Amino acid sequence: MGRPKKSVKMPRLRVRKKPIQRVRGMHDVLPPEMNYWNYLEEIVREVVSVFSFQKIETPILEQTELFQRGTGESTDIVQKEMFSFVDKGGNNLSLRPEGTPGIVRAYTENGLHVLPQPVKLYYIGPMFRRERPQSGRQREFHQLNIEVLGNAKPVLDAEVIFIAWKILEKLGLSKFEIQVNSVGCRLCRGQYKEMLVDFLSSNKQRLCVDCKRRLKNNPLRVLDCKNRRCQDVINDAPQIIDYLCEECHDHFKDVLEYLDESKIPYNLNSKLVRGLDYYTKTAFEIWPVEGGEASSQNSLGGGGRYDDLVEILGGRETPAVGMALGIERVIDILKKEEGKGKDKLITVPKSDVMLIQLGDMARKRALGLINLLIDNKISVIECLQKDSIRSQLKSASGAGVKCALILGQKEVLDKSILIRDMESGIQEVLSQDNIISELKKRLRK
Ligand code: HAM
Repeated sequence: MGRPKKSVKMPRLRVRKKPIQRVRGMHDVLPPEMNYWNYLEEIVREVVSVFSFQKIETPILEQTELFQRGTGESTDIVQKEMFSFVDKGGNNLSLRPEGTPGIVRAYTENGLHVLPQPVKLYYIGPMFRRERPQSGRQREFHQLNIEVLGNAKPVLDAEVIFIAWKILEKLGLSKFEIQVNSVGCRLCRGQYKEMLVDFLSSNKQRLCVDCKRRLKNNPLRVLDCKNRRCQDVINDAPQIIDYLCEECHDHFKDVLEYLDESKIPYNLNSKLVRGLDYYTKTAFEIWPVEGGEASSQNSLGGGGRYDDLVEILGGRETPAVGMALGIERVIDILKKEEGKGKDKLITVPKSDVMLIQLGDMARKRALGLINLLIDNKISVIECLQKDSIRSQLKSASGAGVKCALILGQKEVLDKSILIRDMESGIQEVLSQDNIISELKKRLRK
């Protein structure tokens, strides 16, 4: 078969195809936006490394049962919001709606309990919840999570809250409030639940439809209903803090003392219960403050202690505590808090050298030269798609490089290269063998 001649035109597609759009509630993160993500990740790394957290990745796809047992059957997440499907092998799978059950599975499955405890892990990645998309609420969103497994000390609860606060503070944010509560343990929460159900049942007529359902399935969730009429009922409801057993009470007292000593501002909120089933003792959320008022709508983060979850998922008795920050929501308020952090946003890193090529022979030699520069740790950029020297020199001054290396056909043939000082415009001819030593001298490396 002969090759098509250059002059033969490609036939045009007759029908213009309809572009495919992204799935509802999912978002593209484009390069300019990525500057915020990189900035946030750099601060996260800086803060968590102080406390010796190590990075972990677990799969986005897990068995549906992991979330049914872990996140909890009665939660909105499991009842209404999971992206679940049966695969071709008949397995019930779900996109993870949150990260904690996957971490607990990985902890037991990989024998991390035999390591010195606690095991401190952090991870950043996508989560999927089929909620109604609106401002600040997406179907795919990203979280930074930290998890501490294998120790029950209250200082670790305070450490986790401290890390969440410090990351936001280092980002330059001020319009947020930390809400803290204790939801007790299996023992004391059971007693409290009975009291709460008695109270709510006698006020059932005043509750919204959702809370009437919650009263049966998950009465604690009534406490954070946003409905005004439910709020009136809740204001008079018994408070969990008054029903904590001695151990939970003392644990909580210690957590608050650590927060006080570290001067972390927080608000004691006896109605805070969180939307996931596994929390024990400390529970906290970080609420944005708008117009002077903190609101649970679009919370920036949340977490708490989950001392039973490892056992619930088939592992050994292992106390644990953790938290997650919602990356999109944090970046949203970073943008809103006028200018803060903007000066620190990391843009494209500056390079020292630009390689300019003229003609086909030089273009063919260019990647080999770039390879040599990379191997010698010289930061180089290129514009291989360009032809004219003028436009390549323009790119070089736009990028702010110190030197340009100019390679044409003559230079390829006699193994030389031109080096141009971008500030003075002075050019010299070099042997290609001396490129690295000359650049190191000029760049003082
Ligand atoms: P969560 O409170 O369900 O906790 O989620 C944590 C954060 O993820 C929220 O505060 C919010 O910033 C963000 N987020 C949640 N849903 C959405 C959404 N639909 N769109 C945008 N952002 C959202 C957990 O997921 C727990 N696993 C945290 C944890 C870790 N607890 C212990 N360890």
